[in-house]
Amino acid sequence: MSLELTWLGHSGFLLHAGDVTVAIDPFLTGNPKAPFGPERVRCHAIVVTHGHGDHLGDTVAIARVNGATVFGSWELCNYLDAQGVTKTEAGNAGGRIVTPWGWVAFTPAVHSSSHEGRYLGSPLGAVVHLGGSTVYHCGDTALFSDLKLMGELYRPDVALIPAGDRFTMGPELATRAAEWIGATVSIPMHYDTWPPIAVEITRFAPSGTRVLLPRAGERFSPLD
Ligand code: NI
Ligand code: MN
Repeated sequence: MSLELTWLGHSGFLLHAGDVTVAIDPFLTGNPKAPFGPERVRCHAIVVTHGHGDHLGDTVAIARVNGATVFGSWELCNYLDAQGVTKTEAGNAGGRIVTPWGWVAFTPAVHSSSHEGRYLGSPLGAVVHLGGSTVYHCGDTALFSDLKLMGELYRPDVALIPAGDRFTMGPELATRAAEWIGATVSIPMHYDTWPPIAVEITRFAPSGTRVLLPRAGERFSPLD
């Protein structure tokens, strides 16, 4: 069961292993880089790092159509429960949730989290283990030194690292993050979606990890 990924543009990814698909931060409606609309997403689970619209995205609609379980912070899951999402798994930073197909662990992220003025808990990163591989989606975050600890604790095969500057790390700080996390493969995200986060992504140039720059919508095997 080798791991495959599909980048949805911005911070959205589909993780595929065998017949299981996990979506992370599925923001398609209103995403100028989205390769397709939310109606094309088929998934068993959705992991949401925080409440901002460019991460929560189409979660409610996708969860409803797919009967998918949504993983997120306690406050985010309470909000989704009120939106009619029937299956939620709430957690918080430092904790792990074991699932039928693997596990989800939440990590700290240095950022904020709200939706339409409502506080939605701490912003989080998420480590997702499926198909024998481990993917660390950093969420939206500043550089902070515990990213190194997350690398040591979870030994991710793939790290998804925000690099668009202004709201998160830019390429240079994301480079440091990638070196600290030390995944086999590092993929920058959250850049070039709109002009305020347009960056020269070649400035993301960590050593000791392989950088991949996927095209949105392409399904690929990062570890092959
Ligand atoms: Ni955000
Ligand atoms: Mn964001």
